[in-house]
This record gives sequence, C-alpha cells and structure tokens, in this order.
Amino acid sequence: MPEFQTLGQFIIEKQADFPYAKGELSRLLRDIGIAAKIVSREVNKAGLMNITGAAGTSNIQGEVQQKLDIYANEQFIAALRSGGECCIIASEENEHIIPINSLISKTAKYAVAIDPLDGSSNIDVNVPVGTIFSIYRRLSRAGSAVLGDVLQKGKEQVAAGYILYGSSTMLVYTTGKGVNGFTLDPAIGEFCLSHPGMQIPKQGSIYSVNEGNYVHFPQGVKQYIKYCQVNDDISNRPYSSRYIGSMVADIHRNLVKGGIFIYPGTAIAPHGKLRLVYECNPLALVIEQAGGRATNGTERILDLEVSKLHQRSPIFIGSAEMVLAAEAMLAEESLTLNRSYLD
Ligand code: AHG
Ligand code: MN
Ligand code: MN
Repeated sequence: MPEFQTLGQFIIEKQADFPYAKGELSRLLRDIGIAAKIVSREVNKAGLMNITGAAGTSNIQGEVQQKLDIYANEQFIAALRSGGECCIIASEENEHIIPINSLISKTAKYAVAIDPLDGSSNIDVNVPVGTIFSIYRRLSRAGSAVLGDVLQKGKEQVAAGYILYGSSTMLVYTTGKGVNGFTLDPAIGEFCLSHPGMQIPKQGSIYSVNEGNYVHFPQGVKQYIKYCQVNDDISNRPYSSRYIGSMVADIHRNLVKGGIFIYPGTAIAPHGKLRLVYECNPLALVIEQAGGRATNGTERILDLEVSKLHQRSPIFIGSAEMVLAAEAMLAEESLTLNRSYLD
C-alpha cells in the first residue's frame, strides 16, 4: 500500500462534497491527472528527445509555439475528449473553441479552459514550466456546447488548478473547498497527497515582477516596487525579488512561502500580458481558496466580465496584505491623476 493517499483515492473520498454530478467531476479531474503524467514524462526527458525548441509555428497571440506547447496541448485535448465528461475545450494554443464529438458534447456537463504549457520559453533551459486548468459547469441546455459555456466569470469555476513540472511534478487544485497539493511519485506513477489544506501566508517577503519593464509601469506599481526595496526591519523589508518567468512556478513558490506576483497593464499594453480565461481566473481561484487575494489592481479577478477567449488582464495576486498594499498605491496614483485634471 502506498504511504500517501493517491489523487484518485482523494478525489473519490471528496466526491461527497460536490453539490451535484459527483462522478463526472471526479472523472474529469482524473483525466487531467492522466494527461499531466504523460506531459510530465516528456518534460522530464526533454533534453534527450528532439522536443525542445520552437515548432516553427505561431499561436493566435502571435507567440512562437514550442514543440512542447503543441505536444502538451494534444495530450490534454486527447484526455478530455476521450474522458467523455467535457463538452467544450478552450486552449491558449487554439484560436477558437475545440470541438468535441457531438454525441459527447450534447451530454457532457463541464467546460474546460487550459494553458497546456505555461512558461514554455523556459523549456530549453531546464527551468520549471506548468499547466493551468479551469473547469465550469456547462450553461447551455440543449445541443452542442457553445462559447458562452467557457466564457463565464471566474467566480463560476467549479474547479481549477495547475500542474508544476519542477524539481518534482506537483498537481495543485481546488473545488472551492480549500486547496490540496499532490506530488507525483515516479516510482508508482501516482500523484500522492503531499500538501493538504494549503494556505498562503497573509504577508510574505517576496515580490515577483518583470522589472525589465519598469519604465513602462504605472506610477502606483513603480511606487510599490520601491516600497518593496526600502529598508525596514519591522516589516522585514527589503523583500526578495524572485521571478522565474513561468507564472505557475512563481505563483506556486509564493503560495508556499508568501509573496506577491504582479503583471500590470502599461501604456503600451493596458491589459497586460496574461490571459484571463486560462491563466488569471484559475490561479485566482486557487490563491483565494488558499486565503490570498487576486485583483486587476482595482477589481477582483473572479468578478471580471469575460467577453473574449484570449482576453488579457493585469494581475496582482498572492498574500492578501501585499496585494492590498499594492492596490492602495495604485488608488493613490489615480487620486493624484484626478486631482491634476481638476487643477
Ligand atoms: P505562456 O508560456 O503560457 O505563453 O505563458 C508565459 C507567461 C507566464 O508564464 C509568465 O509569467 C509570463 O509569460 C512571463 O512574461 P515576461 O517574459 O513578459 O515576463
Ligand atoms: Mn501561460
Ligand atoms: Mn502556454
């Protein structure tokens, strides 16, 4: 018998918590776990196989696709299609929603959004990458599922999580009743419960932001970064700057240790870089469920209207008190701006 509870055992035990469609959501989570193991196996031997580097194609966002972006996308789509519980899939790598066999699409109850490989530019240099997933209850009642089934507000997610392909592979997820983390034991090929009831510290001492873009940041963000760098024994500043460039890895570290992750809007990219449907919303649900906070600077990420599949949003996410401090500096900036318009 394994020493730890496996993901499969845990999901079945928690099934009673789901308000309805208990078996289906459990099976969907199981399917995601299976695809995660396959992708983990490939990521782990990436340097040995001809699967690093660019694929020679671009996705809808004009970003260069890595071979592993395409591989991971295929694996998750295949697992979700064959599992039979998913009526529609949205992926970072596909311009439009991905069709599901019409017989399954008519009856399956869940819509899924995925970032199959997050931080994929890090794959060639053996730096952690991830997968992000978001699950909604289908809204449409008849016929094949529609785009609206996946374009719901983040607060409607029934489950969300990520897989981190790091020094070990972890799957962390929530069904709205706290957050649990599982580590893949390669010897038995099972995700085992290693981090039950994860809680993010209210206050941390790590800030994660691409400071190379500093010159483009709004005044409030610049001010917050300067605040992080000031010497103050009482509040344990200066904070440490840590930025991996894989959102999943940066957010996982901050979830465990406490910290804030920022990807702001700028004058040239007012909505920032990160995508609401398959990056910001699922990670916001995980962090909120762990006791943290996620906003776009003024509004809760999970309350934002979703109108487009590849919509972007600025994000301030992590330890609640750190996010509140950053928001306060942004609010001060807009007050000053409003005052200067009135002058
Ligand atoms: P993806 O590989 O799925 O396109 O995501 C990359 C994202 C995210 O993981 C990371 O935090 C961010 O891009 C890094 O962007 P910068 O290089 O602009 O800092
Ligand atoms: Mn990503
Ligand atoms: Mn990606």
